[in-house]
Amino acid sequence: MAVRRLLPFALVMIAAPVPAAEGDRAWQDPALSPDRRAALALAAMTREEKLVMVIGAFASEQVGKPEVHAPAAARDGSAGYVPGVPRLGIPPLWEADAAMGVATQPTARTARAAIALPSTLATIASWDEDIARRGGAMIGGEARRYGFNVLLAGGINLTREPRNGRNFEYGGEDPLLAGRMVGAQIAGIQSNGIVSTIKHYALNAQQTDQFTLDARIDRAALRQSDLLAFQIAIERGRPGAVMCAYNRVNGAYACENDWLLNHVLKRGWRYPGWVMSDWGAVHSTVAAANAGLDQQSAATFDASSYFGPPLAQAVARGAVSPARLDDMVRRILRSMFANGLVDRPVAIAPIDAAADRAVAQDAAERGAVLLRNARDTLPLRAAALHRVVVIGGHADVGVLSGGGSSQVHPVGGNAVPGLSPTSWPGPVIYLPSSPLAALRRLLPGVRVAYLDGSDPVAAARAAAESDVAIVFATQWTAESQDTSLTLPDGQDALIAAVAGTARRSVVVLETGGAVLMPWADRVDAILQGWYPGAGGGVALARLLTGAVNPSGHLPITVPRDDAAGRCTPLHGTPAPGTAFAVDYCEGAAVGYKAFDRDGRAPLFAFGHGLSYTRFAFDAPTAARARRGVRVSFAVRNTGTRRGAAVPQLYVERADGGFEAPRRLAGWARLDLPAGTMRRATITVDPRLLASYDSATERWVIAGGRYRFRLGTSSRDLGPPVSLMLSATRFAD
Ligand code: BGC
Repeated sequence: MAVRRLLPFALVMIAAPVPAAEGDRAWQDPALSPDRRAALALAAMTREEKLVMVIGAFASEQVGKPEVHAPAAARDGSAGYVPGVPRLGIPPLWEADAAMGVATQPTARTARAAIALPSTLATIASWDEDIARRGGAMIGGEARRYGFNVLLAGGINLTREPRNGRNFEYGGEDPLLAGRMVGAQIAGIQSNGIVSTIKHYALNAQQTDQFTLDARIDRAALRQSDLLAFQIAIERGRPGAVMCAYNRVNGAYACENDWLLNHVLKRGWRYPGWVMSDWGAVHSTVAAANAGLDQQSAATFDASSYFGPPLAQAVARGAVSPARLDDMVRRILRSMFANGLVDRPVAIAPIDAAADRAVAQDAAERGAVLLRNARDTLPLRAAALHRVVVIGGHADVGVLSGGGSSQVHPVGGNAVPGLSPTSWPGPVIYLPSSPLAALRRLLPGVRVAYLDGSDPVAAARAAAESDVAIVFATQWTAESQDTSLTLPDGQDALIAAVAGTARRSVVVLETGGAVLMPWADRVDAILQGWYPGAGGGVALARLLTGAVNPSGHLPITVPRDDAAGRCTPLHGTPAPGTAFAVDYCEGAAVGYKAFDRDGRAPLFAFGHGLSYTRFAFDAPTAARARRGVRVSFAVRNTGTRRGAAVPQLYVERADGGFEAPRRLAGWARLDLPAGTMRRATITVDPRLLASYDSATERWVIAGGRYRFRLGTSSRDLGPPVSLMLSATRFAD
């Protein structure tokens, strides 16, 4: 990343004054279709005006480039700015990062205080499209009020590499789960009359050497995995823009990859929006423009303003056709009209922090995963306790968040300022929501002490003197750097020491993704809290005390050991900056699928998540539907508390013809009072029954027997119901 903030100069093009538009500004008529409006506006534009819209500026100061300044009209301290065409009533694009909320760049003079959702992975762990949509609506609402009309949200890359430092911003291991959840979040963001991106297209699965690496994968396998996630999310969320990735994919940079951009996205999926580059991901003018890149973002991050004067010259000499330039601009305009940027201009207004924090807290409560609960240690009951000790993780003041461009600067400020790194990809920020304070409120009459965890001996002693010891373990992960799966700073030893003396021990994890838990069998309970967002402290305390019943389920596998199971090691580039390949040999068998295929036992399986109540599923029935298959069943809450069940449906091909023994084929999330029953029906998308055939570019369902199994995780499955399907082929 050092590279990222240190590249050459910007050239911001100013449109020359031109005569007023002809006609009656018909493109301003909301009754017309976005396509029609885009065509009309485009027809009124000069070439200079078109060229202005396809290149953006960075909207913050750039480290190492004192000569570069953000344009005056940009929202200072944000990610990007693209001028509009005022003469035609086309507003600029004001772009902010927003995986979890309105982010502020590290170099900002003043940060915009915003409310952070839990990490994207935490929201995905809720398996709850409704909260994903509401979370998106919340951050989109804040974006509007801060004057942004494009949110650089929608991270969806699959967790191929558990050590990827950005996994917390991404979609987990499964294409269906990621696609539906991220699609819902995008729809929520865009309900505010603004555009959301989806990113990073495609295979941005690790940070190490991401600017040079060539991600190699079989095309059919890619269609069945990461691209299927993108496809589903695009269908459901209809993002106005797609952001192409830094890395190469099968030889060509993602932002000049004709197959990815033109062939699959634009022609195959008929995607009508625009493709913007990641910040510093452009390497050419003609190749990128003709391969399908529509807009160069923050051009000062690249070696040249490729889509500035070089593009004007390329169009003039015919290397890029005028029609292609029109196509770029038409796509941008279309998304602007389709998403309300023209009809509902953004207006700066105060945010409602309390209401927004409530949404973030709800998301954290739904996404936290109870991994283990031996001896019914949780929920903590005030009546049964005298002394509790809370240890570590700065739980006295806040909860951790992930670093990099998505960093939200919290309302109330950083609860633990000064931690290293203080500059990119830092600062490390703890959101000011104290689990300790919330636990004290929720456990009246109980003495809840706090130790910072720096002294394991003292922690073990305090644990021995308490009824319950709760260790808050944290791991900061961030964009631009990959991570270890081992908790840092001796926290494994701290947990082991506490577990050795405590009557009851609980571990709460605030991590970007999976970590190794060598102490898992020695502690009584483990709550995976992820980065739990602005209401995180309260959410974790409510989960621990049973004010809310845990209902999250893992969207990733927690491995027992560090075996990455990949063909090319994460580290070990031949020489820095040299192109090298990462072979994604697991193909479509991402995460749990590879564990199943290889017969490896995870520590906690994909889909796993406990509750304080119990659920029972009736044997499912399966029937062929017009497209795909419908599976129906009943779920009962057989315990004594209200709770949300997440029955998961997995499909197996009896002849073993899938990339792995089984695939997630659908799920339901049912909120059930104790003692009640509800029926549910899951319709299986036919793509989940098919394999992609690259030669004919068709999805192919092989004729034969398919088994459908309901479960509480990919490794805890009920008896199968079988169905014969006949051979079918279909296009995207
Ligand atoms: C990230 C993008 C982000 C952009 C703008 C890049 O480093 O990869 O996800 O949107 O910066 O800040």
